[in-house]
Amino acid sequence: MATLRLGDVAPDFTAQTTQGEISFHNWLGDSWGVLFSHPADFTPVCTTELGTVAKFQDEFKKRNVKTIALSVDPLADHKRWVSDIDETQHTTVDYPIIADEDRKVAELYDMIHPNASAKATVRSVFIIAPDKTVKLTLTYPASTGRNFYEILRVIDSLQLTAYEKVATPANWNEGEDCVILPSVSNEEAKELFPKGFQEVKPYLRMTPQPNLQTGGQN
Ligand code: BEZ
Repeated sequence: MATLRLGDVAPDFTAQTTQGEISFHNWLGDSWGVLFSHPADFTPVCTTELGTVAKFQDEFKKRNVKTIALSVDPLADHKRWVSDIDETQHTTVDYPIIADEDRKVAELYDMIHPNASAKATVRSVFIIAPDKTVKLTLTYPASTGRNFYEILRVIDSLQLTAYEKVATPANWNEGEDCVILPSVSNEEAKELFPKGFQEVKPYLRMTPQPNLQTGGQN
């Protein structure tokens, strides 16, 4: 499988998980998805990552996002390890973990980078939109736990920019000013952004986040 690119349809698959067999596209339904791989069960960084995703479930659900983890370890290991994660991270892992022993899904999503590790998956993240297209790919090394606040931040940006003619600037967070798309004329911008906009340069125009009830420019 060639590397997945933004805009590609996320490959469908069936797999054994800690919550039974799933058929990926059916399981996603109309939700957004976050599919993320981790190198191995019973490892310290992975334990903190899967615990964090469990603790963030309310945030994901608010955004209509389903999360699903993957490693190439067997189902029995996943099940035993989930108890450890729940115990040590003070949470309940209530999303599925794929047991990809035959590496079928890892290969479909190019999650094994042989020059990093011949056996283990790297820390991949795929954000998938309800139309099943890939909206973000990330690859982290085994030694660096991911920042799941960043994953939520990207989802907020993707969900905003799917409906409004804006993009989000560096380090943007929900509620902060946005950038007006270059394809929007100033005339159109006056109609689209009744809260107003600031023309810093003709190509750099800032407006308060358009889908919020209140707020002037920061
Ligand atoms: C970990 O999750 O702690 C880990 C996994 C593979 C290599 C290094 C660290």
